[in-house]
Amino acid sequence: MEKKKFYVTTPIYYPSAKPHLGHAYCSTLADVVARGKRLRGYEVYFLTGLDEHGEKIQENAAAKGVSPQEFVDGVAEIFLKLWKALRLSNDDFIRTTQERHVKTVQAIFHKFIEDGDVYLGSYKGWYCVHEESYWTETQVGPEHLCPDCGRPVEQKSEEAYFFNCGKYVDSLLKYYDANPKFITPVGRKTEMINNFIKPGLNDLCVTRTTFDWGVPVLEKEGHVVYVWLDALTNYISALGYGQEDHSLFDKFWGEDSEIVHIVGADITRFHTIYWPMFLEALGLRKPDRVFVHGLLMMKDGKMSKSKGNVVYVEPLIERYGVDAVRYFLTREIVFGMDGTFTPEQFVERINNDLANDFGNLLNRTLGMLGKYYGGTVSARYEEAYDALDKELLNKAKATVKEYEILNDDLKVTESYAAVMDLVSSANKYIQDKAPWALAKDETKKKELSNAMNILCSIIFLAGTLLSPVLVDKAPELFDQLGLKEEERTYEKAISLESLEGTLTHKGNLLFPRLETEKEIAFIKDLMAGPKEKAAA
Ligand code: MSP
Repeated sequence: MEKKKFYVTTPIYYPSAKPHLGHAYCSTLADVVARGKRLRGYEVYFLTGLDEHGEKIQENAAAKGVSPQEFVDGVAEIFLKLWKALRLSNDDFIRTTQERHVKTVQAIFHKFIEDGDVYLGSYKGWYCVHEESYWTETQVGPEHLCPDCGRPVEQKSEEAYFFNCGKYVDSLLKYYDANPKFITPVGRKTEMINNFIKPGLNDLCVTRTTFDWGVPVLEKEGHVVYVWLDALTNYISALGYGQEDHSLFDKFWGEDSEIVHIVGADITRFHTIYWPMFLEALGLRKPDRVFVHGLLMMKDGKMSKSKGNVVYVEPLIERYGVDAVRYFLTREIVFGMDGTFTPEQFVERINNDLANDFGNLLNRTLGMLGKYYGGTVSARYEEAYDALDKELLNKAKATVKEYEILNDDLKVTESYAAVMDLVSSANKYIQDKAPWALAKDETKKKELSNAMNILCSIIFLAGTLLSPVLVDKAPELFDQLGLKEEERTYEKAISLESLEGTLTHKGNLLFPRLETEKEIAFIKDLMAGPKEKAAA
């Protein structure tokens, strides 16, 4: 059954610090997926948000001398500002401190208690009184010392609720088997089974009593819901599950909706083991796919605040425009694999693909159209098509098919690479056809007219297929092509129909070439931490 409703989510981020390029990566790709589906006529709901509870947040707030709510409100502003700058098209922004979310979490917990899916037990572990935290046997080592402060730890136990995982393991494995694409890339599934399920899954401790910045368990004073159960619930609380108005939930969590969670490799386990179990306990359907993207690495490892190697997005957007950043993230880092960020790759990617290939195609075409036809798209004479015309048009049709199949399979990078391959073919077509030579030959009028006409349709198509990424420049490109708002549709673009008679306007360069050395130096400077800067 082809599903025409599409629900896509990002993880909800910890608002513990300012977001960096790594967070932007996940959100941008989810946005490209959402926009790609909308473009093709799907009804899409795109969700992102923040995971605002938990001990860490409480500690961070205390360190700043503000209340946890004040703290998360401040960071939320920064996230929202960045998402706006990145032009995310999310339909909602869920925050786990919102009342609607808290209500859903409490309703779920209540149902778990009623149905016997959670039970009261005791949590045992090595406890550090100073740090107020539990550690595992491996973490404390043979000396039994706190890995954080080095003080001796003690065995302690406290009352807690546990989720009965044993009840759902078999059915989870069956779901994996019946839905081979549930976890993608598929290597992640093997990892989950071998590392976590085969060795035996312990029941999951789902409440805490050592801190209070969380959703209170109404049935038991002093207990707050474990932050991961709280966080995962966002995917349905945002749709109204357990609330008065659950129409969005009915629509986008129904069997006829495709549900895709996009997550980083670090949180696969929660999304592919516990989340489906919670859903099963609630009697709800499971997501179609959990798509695990890779991490954005720097030369010295994963980009993370604790490593001090983060790159912030704002200065990149300011200098190169949002499309350059979105394009780099989509095209350079293969979705599903780890990728690296280097200034050299960034500049080279933008120059090669956007300035040279795509930008040139547009400029040369509109330039020649201006020269030979006063800017009006020339006529198409199908009877005069030659092998080159047919080859390019066939390639364009094949590209559309490939683009759709790859996009549906979340092979996002590959789908945009296919479009850029078409762009290269169109540039080669110009080289091979040499319209400047045709223009000098009175007997080649129809050939010239065809060439310019076909190129305009190809540019319209490529611009349309790239529009989920190039959100800023695609409309400008359509302006230059002289297309009216109502003409800018996916159907029209993929039909490759003749745009004869349309008056084009050659405008500013959409993607000016970057001065390689200068821009590499600029980005390197952004990446230099305070220490390196001081030493320089
Ligand atoms: N709050 C949890 C998620 C709960 S979802 C129900 C969490 N938050 S997080 O802010 O630490 O990380 C969220 C996601 O950010 C990661 O899964 C990943 O998608 C993304 N990334 C964080 N750093 C990243 C990179 N360096 N590279 C790519 N993505 C990164 O875990």
